[in-house]
Amino acid sequence: MSSRYHAIYAAWQADPDAFWAEAAKGIDWFHPHDKVFDPELGVYGRWFPGATTNTCHNCLDRHVEQGRADQAALIYDSPITQARRTYSYKELLDQVQAMAVVMADRGIGKGDRVILYMPMIPEAVMAMLACARLGAIHSVVFGGFAAHELATRIDDATPKAIICASCGLEPGRTIAYKPLVDAAIDLAAHKPDNVLVIQRPQFAANLDRPGDVDLGVEMGKALAEGRKVPCTLVEATDPLYILYTSGTTGQPKGVVRDTGGHMVALKWSMENLYGVAPGEVFWAASDVGWVVGHSYIVYAPLLHGCTTVVFEGKPVGTPDAGVFWRVIADHKVVALFTAPTAFRAIKKEDPNGRFISDYDLSHFRTLFLAGERADPDTIRWAEERLQVPVIDHWWQTETGWAIVGNPVGLGQLPVKHGSPTVAMPGYDVRVLDDAGHPLPAGTLGNIVVKLPLPPGCLPTLWNADARFRSAYLDEFPGYYKTADAGVIDADGYLSIMARTDDIINVAGHRLSTGAMEEVLSGHPDVAECAVIGIADQLKGQLPCGFVVLKSGVNRSHADIEAELVKRVRDLIGPVAAFKIAITVDRLPKTRSGKILRGTMRQIADGQDYRMPATIDDPAILTEIEAALNAYGVRTKA
Ligand code: COA
Ligand code: AMP
Repeated sequence: MSSRYHAIYAAWQADPDAFWAEAAKGIDWFHPHDKVFDPELGVYGRWFPGATTNTCHNCLDRHVEQGRADQAALIYDSPITQARRTYSYKELLDQVQAMAVVMADRGIGKGDRVILYMPMIPEAVMAMLACARLGAIHSVVFGGFAAHELATRIDDATPKAIICASCGLEPGRTIAYKPLVDAAIDLAAHKPDNVLVIQRPQFAANLDRPGDVDLGVEMGKALAEGRKVPCTLVEATDPLYILYTSGTTGQPKGVVRDTGGHMVALKWSMENLYGVAPGEVFWAASDVGWVVGHSYIVYAPLLHGCTTVVFEGKPVGTPDAGVFWRVIADHKVVALFTAPTAFRAIKKEDPNGRFISDYDLSHFRTLFLAGERADPDTIRWAEERLQVPVIDHWWQTETGWAIVGNPVGLGQLPVKHGSPTVAMPGYDVRVLDDAGHPLPAGTLGNIVVKLPLPPGCLPTLWNADARFRSAYLDEFPGYYKTADAGVIDADGYLSIMARTDDIINVAGHRLSTGAMEEVLSGHPDVAECAVIGIADQLKGQLPCGFVVLKSGVNRSHADIEAELVKRVRDLIGPVAAFKIAITVDRLPKTRSGKILRGTMRQIADGQDYRMPATIDDPAILTEIEAALNAYGVRTKA
């Protein structure tokens, strides 16, 4: 089948407003928009001003009203606890209403912020939808972040309440969440009124602080009493959520997602990019704490009337490297979306894909990968073993959906390994040099998107328009800076090569080396430090910290390094996967004092590097290489 992609992209280019007005017909509006796009509003314009709607209505109520009441909306599958449960659209709506009632009883309403700190259980999805129902703005914080990170987000979002579960479950480890939430509230200047807790059977939290609520018990009462709460009308331009993502410093950026544009873009993507029909089962094996979880575990599948899967497990070890195939077979999943690192983990455990033949994958049509570079070896392995198209696509927390992808629903384009394929309608993607000049095809440069960004992308950062401008819009006027570097070939295929800032990507998780450096510098014995991301076969990158100690410190280096590893785990969280701290005498710098992190990374990755012309003392690079080798990092092939 030939692809309709080129015709559709051309139609969007010819008349963007008509394109998005047509896409908006997939959504229920209580009042229609005045304009499709108004360039005069907000920082660079706003989508669908004047329209009113509600995201929970579009995800649940309308499907119940229109014949999907008994269709499965959410399948919870937890190989960690052995639990499984399916919620129909009607059941999910009842649960969400009950949770919304409990929240409304505590005064939570339109515009209030609510922080969610949840493991992968159905109540995480319910809490997001209950906020949407009330017009409250949720901010989900990934469970692998520590109390200090949670406190930073509490102070930025100033939530009225926090919703959490009593615990998260990692293989072999139960993480008590309530003490982390309490510690975060103690650290934060802002104090939420309530902490609403879902008590899990594996671990009971102490609900002994003022404002603590047993959310499950209260929901049970609301259900028994048949209490309901209607959907609050919100503007299309009102925020649905804030999702914090790593910036270049320890202060994360609060990416704002609007209500209307978000729904329009996600609904469009389900049919046209992912090629999935309402009623089919779509599985994003991510976590609700990440953007992939927001968009493709929760909102897009439900907006589209699909069945979504909430999976509480890992690709390997819960119990084995066959669990993905087991879930696909058991629930008749048609499309799986995950990060390449999950496949690298499976490939490592089961190189021949022996487990695959144990399961009936006849319903499975497409594998989608994103979150980090999809290395051709992993793609080939998956293609050969699974015999389905393996589709890489590139996007960011900021955009909320794919910038570049291969639109399976419009007719798949030929796959080129190493490239996530072509720009989606809505995105005019360019490659510029550092001075902002366009670069010819095949030349590496800064990837930017011509403004305006399409529906679904961030209109701004929470309470930080100026930071939004300076972080994304100022460097290349008229364009959004993605902070990724890459090339576009003569066929319009894009390849992502690297970040242009100090963000690293560890197991598909986006982390700031700047934030880790702030934590290391806070250790009393550390004079200066540098954190770089070094190549890792499983996780893509791993953080590696170099520290120079203050003069006069004569404690054991091993003790200090262990303290530094613990410090990052305690202050940022286990998700940082910070395990390598190396003491060195000096850091390589330019004559103006800039630390040569890029060169250090090239050394650590065993790449050829050019001696920077401005280096202060070239001998230091040899010292860095020796320190890495002594630590066990092989720097030569
Ligand atoms: N709550 C608390 N701790 C968590 C957590 C959570 N929700 N998620 C992860 N952690 C912890 C892990 O237990 C681990 O701790 P450890 O240092 O004690 O082992 C640490 O954070 C690092 O986690 P992770 O990077 O996930 O590594 P892992 O070794 O546990 O698993 C993979 C490696 C590849 C199997 C895993 O990263 C994975 O499944 N990735 C899938 C990709 C994905 O979900 N990407 C998200 C964007 S699409
Ligand atoms: P996040 O905001 O956590 O989704 O991370 C976004 C970043 O992950 C991007 O800016 C890229 O650096 C990287 N990324 C995401 N998807 C891909 C992909 N398909 N190929 C290469 N890098 C990717």
